[in-house]
Amino acid sequence: MLKSSDADTLSTQASRLRDVSISDLLSNEANRVSELTFRAAGLSLDASKQKIDRAACRDLVSAATNAGLPDAFERLVTGVEVNITEQRAALHTLLRGTAAAECPDLYNEVSETLSRMQCAVENIHSGTHTGASGQVFTDVINIGIGGSDLGPRMICRALDTDTPRLRSHFISNVDPHDLDVVTRDLDPATTLLIICSKTFTTEETLTNAQRARAWLVAGGVAEANIGQHVLAVTTNLDAAATFGISETACFPMWDWVGGRYSVWSAIGLVIALGYGWQVFAELLDGAKALDEHTRETPPDQNLPMMMALLELWNTRFLNTETHVVLPYSQRMEYLADFLQQLTMESNGKRVTLTGAPITDATAPVLWGSAGTIGQHSYYQLLHQGNRAFSADIIFPLTNGNVDLDAHRKLAANALAQSRAFLIGRTPQESKTLAAAKGLAPELAPHFEMSGNHPHSTIVMESVTPATLGALVAAYEHKTYFLSALMGLNAFDQWGVELGKVIGKQIRSTLETGEALGELDASTATLATAWRGANTDD
Ligand code: F6P
Repeated sequence: MLKSSDADTLSTQASRLRDVSISDLLSNEANRVSELTFRAAGLSLDASKQKIDRAACRDLVSAATNAGLPDAFERLVTGVEVNITEQRAALHTLLRGTAAAECPDLYNEVSETLSRMQCAVENIHSGTHTGASGQVFTDVINIGIGGSDLGPRMICRALDTDTPRLRSHFISNVDPHDLDVVTRDLDPATTLLIICSKTFTTEETLTNAQRARAWLVAGGVAEANIGQHVLAVTTNLDAAATFGISETACFPMWDWVGGRYSVWSAIGLVIALGYGWQVFAELLDGAKALDEHTRETPPDQNLPMMMALLELWNTRFLNTETHVVLPYSQRMEYLADFLQQLTMESNGKRVTLTGAPITDATAPVLWGSAGTIGQHSYYQLLHQGNRAFSADIIFPLTNGNVDLDAHRKLAANALAQSRAFLIGRTPQESKTLAAAKGLAPELAPHFEMSGNHPHSTIVMESVTPATLGALVAAYEHKTYFLSALMGLNAFDQWGVELGKVIGKQIRSTLETGEALGELDASTATLATAWRGANTDD
């Protein structure tokens, strides 16, 4: 945890640097860009447009060392029980083989599962495992929510090609439209379902699984043959069996893998089915390369550690209100959705490991979307609104075999926005612009932009399974390091449980009309309106 003496030092540095001009730092600090660029596993992080100088950077790095971040990482990867409220380790790194020698028994289970996954994928691709009618599968639907959906959905979108092995689809929302729209153009005879639920108790997933099974039956797959069309991934093998899924169609997860850290487990089956086993293996390798970098690299060159220090610096010491993730790659259009769960479900907490209150901001409010689309929407607020934000601009240097002119325009937009966040537009330039438009000088402030918005630029060599694996692992470790600096548990999520409990009570009220009087006046009125619209009584 951040030492209070380091927190005081950083507060002093932040007071000195809060209003510093990042442009001046870039002009005045020789070698600033190279000194503040961190490289690992096909990624580079340029932090030279952050509001830090050499002295602040040195203090951040020594705060990381004093807080024991390297040791904290060792504890994570070697399976110490870091998730104390659920009394378990958080060993997602083992899923890609990191520290396998330290956890040999668990790694045997991982490797056995990977072999089973590979075998299942190859049997489906080769046509050894077909649908009930004997036709090969052409489509796979992943049914899951939260961590059982967001990771594989994001990766499948990022790897999308014209010729997938199987077309991948995702159903998550309990809103029946989600399933109805996804299944509308699919043929049950050639569609495989993967029911992904760590707990196998999640209402949305079980409801969608039942409806998807009914869709298969209505489409001509005999009840007795449903098993040929359904795989499951879960820690709860009994519940899956009760659902009618045989042991051989079930792939285990382990309680020591958090849902939002589970894309590397059998939750990633849809990725392997969509794009081939080799691609999934490369994704794991990319993440492992980043793990090795994180384990072996001293704090002052450690990429995810630096990301965590910058998040701490911006959120806690410079009081930025929000963090925007801007991938200049349509392939990564779901990255912010994925990072929202990773960041906010992990670190959206207000007590330390010992239960003491945390009054400082913990996780940033994280959002974003693929550039350049946001530029024609919310960037206006970024440039001229009065919210303090930080950002990650992410872009691949190469973009596959695509139209180079369009790719150049995309990169130009990424660099232009980064530069605009830096330089803004000065009052003098705004006056000149107003005059050129024939406007009164009083209107010049309408054209002003403060600029000086702290942000990092993350460059990927290209969007490949390996660089994606590395990028996701970098954000995972950033999230964990931040939790270690804050002294909180990044691996539980008690905050989402209350809504589930109340949801059950209200569902029964909507069905029966009973217990309305136990609700508050607003909720009771809304429930009555719903019943009026949906029931005859
Ligand atoms: O919403 C809470 C949560 O528990 C997430 O942490 C998890 O990723 C998601 O629900 C799905 O849970 P499961 O995989 O058990 O269905």
